[in-house]
Amino acid sequence: MAPSKARAAWPGQRPGPCLPRLVLLGCLGLAAGPAMTQEIFEERKEQCADCHGVGDAEAMQEAPALGGIDAYYALLQLVAFREGDRENAIMSSMVEDMSDDDLRAASDWIAELTRPAPSEGTPDAQRMEAGAALAEEHRCGSCHGAEYLGGSQMPPLRNQHEDYLAKALHDYKTERRIGARAAMVEIAEPLSDEDIDTLAFYLAHLTD
Ligand code: HEC
Ligand code: HEC
Repeated sequence: MAPSKARAAWPGQRPGPCLPRLVLLGCLGLAAGPAMTQEIFEERKEQCADCHGVGDAEAMQEAPALGGIDAYYALLQLVAFREGDRENAIMSSMVEDMSDDDLRAASDWIAELTRPAPSEGTPDAQRMEAGAALAEEHRCGSCHGAEYLGGSQMPPLRNQHEDYLAKALHDYKTERRIGARAAMVEIAEPLSDEDIDTLAFYLAHLTD
């Protein structure tokens, strides 16, 4: 339940791997300018884009769309992956050697991306109705926004990838992911597998 449990279980964690490098640069009187401290993100940016389906790329299975996520929330998540507070082998390996400046550059890049396109065509009306009723019942919009567009400490849900939404809800329900103030653990606890599928379908298929 406590975040420290997930932290202890994460083997890849190294305490502040980038700090000594920055301190060293400072000691030598070298300017730790943006070009130096953000270089790892710049090198990996294309990989980020490929997996997350930025531009023409097709997103990898269970990778979220990043467009629409605010810089502050993105930074919190990237730090959580780096420190082992959010468990995901792929993402942790992506950011474990990144400096704070790298993570800031990454979150600024994310904040500039366009949000995922609204669903095309007409989604199954019965499932949409069932999803709307569940979202209403559990008051999802009270935190994520009436249009599910999120905010500075709140991720957007609107037109997020269906498989990722379902995975995230399962991760909260099973306490594999705890997150800020454990709000979502409490929300996801009473949801059945079918509720989760229905909510994921509904949020992913909202039309404008
Ligand atoms: C090999 C595929 C892959 C690559 C490369 C990758 N990611 Fe990810 N990313 C994922 C997956 C999968 C998740 C979902 C993790 C989970 O389920 O907790 C994720 C999650 C995230 C999240 C959390 C989003 C949210 O809604 O909570 C952010 C932010 C993110 N990635 C940014 C990046 C950045 C920046 C890079 C490049 C430095 C990157 N990713 C590279 C696959 C990838
Ligand atoms: C009390 C406020 C609150 C309510 C109500 C709420 N959420 Fe959340 N939700 C949050 C917070 C805060 C986060 C970020 C948690 C974290 O740090 O991992 C979040 C994260 C999520 C995520 C992860 C998104 C991502 O990009 O990784 C999903 C999916 C989600 N919520 C779905 C829902 C659904 C569906 C409902 C309604 C059944 C709901 N939420 C109701 C506060 C809330």
